[in-house]
This record gives sequence, structure tokens and C-alpha cells, in this order.
Amino acid sequence: MSNPTTPPVTTTQTGTPVASDAHSLTVGADGATVLHDRYLVEKLAQFNRERIPERIVHAKGGGAFGRFEATHDVSAYTRAAVFQPGTESETLLRFSSVAGEQGSPDTWRDVRGFSLKFYTTEGNYDIVGNNTPVFFIRDGAKFPDFIHSQKRLPGSGLRDADMQWDFWTLSPESAHQVTYLMGDRGLPKSWREMQGYGSHTYQWINAEGERFWVKYHFRSQQGDLHLDAETAEAIAGADADFYRRDLYEAIERGDHPKWDLFVQVMPYEDAKTYRFNPFDLTKVWPHADYPLIPVGTLTLDRNPQNFFAEIEQAAFSPANTVPGIAISPDKMLMARVFSYPDAQRYRVGTNYNQLPVNAPHAASVHNYSQDGAARYHFNAPSAPVYAPNSVGGPVASADAAGEGGWEADGSLVRTAYTLRADDSDFGQAGTLYRDVYSAEAKARLLETLSGQANAITVEAIRERFFQYWTNVDAGLGASLREAYAAGVNADAPQQPEADEPETAEEAAA
Ligand code: HEM
Repeated sequence: MSNPTTPPVTTTQTGTPVASDAHSLTVGADGATVLHDRYLVEKLAQFNRERIPERIVHAKGGGAFGRFEATHDVSAYTRAAVFQPGTESETLLRFSSVAGEQGSPDTWRDVRGFSLKFYTTEGNYDIVGNNTPVFFIRDGAKFPDFIHSQKRLPGSGLRDADMQWDFWTLSPESAHQVTYLMGDRGLPKSWREMQGYGSHTYQWINAEGERFWVKYHFRSQQGDLHLDAETAEAIAGADADFYRRDLYEAIERGDHPKWDLFVQVMPYEDAKTYRFNPFDLTKVWPHADYPLIPVGTLTLDRNPQNFFAEIEQAAFSPANTVPGIAISPDKMLMARVFSYPDAQRYRVGTNYNQLPVNAPHAASVHNYSQDGAARYHFNAPSAPVYAPNSVGGPVASADAAGEGGWEADGSLVRTAYTLRADDSDFGQAGTLYRDVYSAEAKARLLETLSGQANAITVEAIRERFFQYWTNVDAGLGASLREAYAAGVNADAPQQPEADEPETAEEAAA
């Protein structure tokens, strides 16, 4: 390491000392720059390649490392090492906004991402969730369309209320999540002061091979707080990185945020007869049916040393499960298992899982994959490159893998989930509005939605918007129509009474 009084000599990427940090090699002081100034060429070329594609969604974010401690015994439900009582695992948590680009303001109204990587002794386990327990759609086939509607118009490059509400009102399954988004959860006070959810139903498998369905809830010990719309808007202008700064500064001053993890556990067989589809990502499971069971505590206590290397290049994926934990027959989740590693091979590179932030920290890697761009780790030359082999290469084990699964019986179809008695698009959205939101929260929602009604420019979409909210709650729909009509009337040019004077002269006459 260098002594601060004698800094090291600048070198090329291959370690050769360079002659100047400031002057290109030129033909005389005022002449042409020569192409064989290898350091100048390397410096500019490297600079041109500093950016990688931003995440297609959740581009703006921040995160920190920490630890998860399993404080309660849930071994009856899962054999996963990470959740055995007393186990402590290193973690990385990344927070994000969904729709905005890298530089977008943190406090624009949006759902917030909550991506957690556990570096476990059985490999990395990722829960890639949000600050809401549900989602806008229930089939991955609609995801690109949904995201297009939230991003920008292809022509003007502008975001567009018509496009958003056109998609949402034609996709009634979105109502529950949109009720969250337009409510207080759309404007968290900070990343530290919000809840996290796995959102999907996952499967847990215990040491005896018994299977359960689970949902994850991370409850913030800092509280679940929000900004009012006016403050959020002011902050968006004054400090686009408000949440990122808040998290970084809190950890630097030793104020380590914590979340308590709870799970809802549904016995495997219940899913077959439960009154609504428990794999439908637009639904929550009532706590009265499946109460919260404590698991452990997550603490963030270490800021990244390099934002790009450790946060921008971090790759989270619902495909990263560990023995004793599996996915479920949720169509969204199954699509995500493909989508994330595919995105990361493109965004970061083929060997993205060899980067220190993505590689396992508490387990080792043994397989027959090799080569590819930017390969860093490799097996010993004596290691076999094929399986099966008779020279001691790694051998897969179903026992070690502890995989889950479920029965399926049917022909290949393209259709919605089979409807059950209590499956409805608007039911839980209405309950959220009526029974969970306080009178103040209801008033804030009405104000936000009135603003949205005004932002819609296409009459047919606005009419569908009123109908959508009427389906959530008839009273809310009626209030929205009223508020809109009052606004329109207030804005309409006032017609003077027939005999009312229009000018001072007329009045005087
Ligand atoms: C089929 C539906 C979905 C698809 C195809 C999809 C796809 C993606 C892709 C491609 C990324 C970028 C990954 C990367 O470049 O590293 C991403 C990021 C993310 N998605 Fe999804 N997504 C889906 C649904 C969801 C749902 C339901 C949730 C939450 C419950 C979610 C939460 C997130 C989060 C939090 C991130 C940011 C990950 C990070 O912090 O790096 N997504 N999604």
C-alpha cells in the first residue's frame, strides 16, 4: 500500500508506469495527437465503457450489506440452513423504484423494490420482492406490456397518464396493487421505514420432505411511514437521491436499520381447496386464516465500498433457491425464474455469478461450466470437464438439493387460472380501501386519484378509470366523479349573465 506522502506512480491497466496524467503525446506542443499514445487511448476507451445497461426495471436504487439471524424455530416447515434457529447469514439488501431510470428522483410515486440476498452455507438464496404484498398482474406474459405502459411514450419520450390508466383499467387484476400504489405505500418516508414482502407464494420443505406454502413479510423496526405528496414532490426537486443518502448516512452513523421476518404458512393440501387461488400474486392471505410466524431479524450494518461493483453489478434472482425452499405454481414466479438470469447475462455478462458480490460467500461452486467472456475462476487442469466421469468430478444429489415440487395433471393450455368461489379482481382492493385505510389515508387517496383523473386526456379512458374505482368501492368511485366534475366546472370559462355588464364602460352606462 502507498504512503500518503509518496503516492504510487500512475500505471496502465497492465501495470506499466505512465509519463503524464495531464498531457497527451503530441507532435510538438501545438501539433497533432499521436495514436500510439497508448495510455491516452486506453484511458478514453476504458472511460467509454464505464456504463453497463441499466436494469430494464428497478434501475434506480441503493443498498447495503448486513446479516440475518434466525431467532425462532421454523425447522418444522423448512430444512433450509439459513432459517435454522441460531444461524447467522451475511446478506445484501437492495432497494429500488420500479419505473424511473438511473437518475430519477427517489421520491416519485412508485412501488419500491426490496431485494435480499442471503449468502448461506447451501448457496445464495434471493428473495426479490417489493414494499407491497401483491402485484399488478398475474401472468408473466403481460409483464413487458405492463412495464411499457409505466415507462415512456416511444415518440415524445414522456411518461403518460393515458397509457398507464389504459393498461390498468383494461387489466382489472391490477386494482389491489394500484390501490396500494396510489395510497401511502407509493411514497415511503425512506427505504428504512417501509415493509418488505416476498409477495409470491413460495414452497418450504422440511427435513422429512413435508411441503408447505409460505409468504414472507419483513416488518421494519423503524416503522412503516410515508411522505405526503407535496413533501415528496419538493424533495424530488431538491434531492433526487434522498433515499439513497438517508440509508448511506444512517449506516455510516451506526444507526443500523432492522426488519423482523415473519412467514405465513399454509399446509400443502390446503392450497387445493382454499377459497381463492393461493398462488395468485394479486391476493394476500388473510392473517386470520394464516397468522404471522416469527423467523428472525435482518440488520443492515455495512455500506458498499464501491457502488458500481457491489450494487450496480449485483444480480438478484427468484431462481436462486436453496435446499428446503422452492418456487410455487405462480405463473409470475415461474416467468421470473427465466427472466432474471437472462437479464443479468446480458446486463452484467455471462460470468456475472463469478463477481464477488454475486458469488456464494459461505458455499463453494462445483460444476462443469467453463469459459465465456471475462472468466475469472476455473477448475484445476486435472478436473474433468464432463459428467458422468470416473475421475472424481462433482456428482449431483437429489438428497442434497432438497427440491420441492407439486402435482400437475392436464393438457397444455393458454388460459387464466381456474376461478374459485372467492376469486375476484376487486374484492381485496375494496377491503384494503374500506377496512385498512384510515379516514386520512382515504382522503389522501382521493386527492391523488383526483389528480390522476385530471392527468388523463382521453375521455374513454377516464370513464373506465371511474368505473375501475367504482368497482373497488362504489363510494370512492362516486366521490371521484364528483371531485372531477367540480374541478371541470370550476375550470370552465364563466358565461356572463345576459344582462351582466362585461366592461367598466358598460357598467358605468
Ligand atoms: C413475470 C414478471 C416479472 C418479470 C419478467 C420481471 C423481470 C425483471 C427483470 C428483468 C429485472 C432486472 C434484473 C436485473 O437486470 O438484474 C427485474 C428487477 C426487479 N424485479 Fe422484477 N420482474 C417481474 C415481476 C416482479 C415482481 C412480482 C416483483 C416483486 C414482487 C419484482 C421485483 C423486482 C425487483 C425488486 C427488482 C430489482 C432487483 C435488484 O434490486 O437488482 N419483479 N425484474
